[in-house]
Amino acid sequence: MITIDQLGFTYPDGTRALDRISLRFHEGTSTGIIGANGAGKSTLVNHLNGYYLPMEGNISIGGVDYCRKNLDSIRRDVGLLFQNPDDQLFMARLYDDIAFGPENLGMNKDEIRTIVEETLLELNLWNLRDKPPSHLSQGQKRFAAFATVLVMDPKVIVMDEPTSDLDPQNRRKLIDLANSLEKTRITVSHDLDFIWDTCERVCIMNGGRIVAEGPAREILSSGELLEANSLELPLRLQGM
Ligand SMILES: Nc1ncnc2c1ncn2[C@@H]1O[C@H](COP(=O)(O)OP(=O)(O)OP(=O)(O)O)[C@@H](O)[C@H]1O
Ligand SMILES: [Mg+2]
Repeated sequence: MITIDQLGFTYPDGTRALDRISLRFHEGTSTGIIGANGAGKSTLVNHLNGYYLPMEGNISIGGVDYCRKNLDSIRRDVGLLFQNPDDQLFMARLYDDIAFGPENLGMNKDEIRTIVEETLLELNLWNLRDKPPSHLSQGQKRFAAFATVLVMDPKVIVMDEPTSDLDPQNRRKLIDLANSLEKTRITVSHDLDFIWDTCERVCIMNGGRIVAEGPAREILSSGELLEANSLELPLRLQGM
């Protein structure tokens, strides 16, 4: 469904962040992207909703090319949870942040109220709906940012470090929620146990390239492969 072909990206300061990335994400699959700090994971996934457009190479979704004129349809198809929730929350009231996307789609007021309220309830944010997002705790912000993505009901959900700042129960809730979504999922995380619990396939990035790709449990139990890429076995496999 999403095809990435020979994608390359260099930041304005000359940092080469992505180099000849070719990947496919089939409809309905869940893929984890793992790798050391600075490997290029966020730069890669920030391309998937058109936040960055391909500088070298191509990306397409369902045959639609990633270019400026197709941005509206790309953003309807792909919801991206940014690594930093502050990049996603900018209104004075949480409720308005969640209503923002649906309002832009031109939905009617009643429909918007219904789906915003459902989303607030689903993510345990109901009591926070009138707060300024800047006053939320980090974990609350993470769920709030997730709400702005879920409310749009995209076909593809991309999550960049979704479990950072979450307490154990909210982390568990996110695992259950992710697994219940009937969507294509792409997850970047250093929480390899979360990847184990939510992804069927894993790609390892190193130095802007994909260096390994395969079934999640095969890749995540390859101690040597993980170590060679500055990673460690998931906690559940350590000491076994
Ligand atoms: N705005 C920017 N300008 C210049 N270089 C950048 C910028 N953003 C990221 N980089 C560089 O690009 C490379 C890839 O960064 P990226 O944020 O994609 O890594 P990451 O794999 O997501 O790391 P982390 O696990 O720490 O989130 C790094 O070397 C980083 O320093
Ligand atoms: Mg990152």
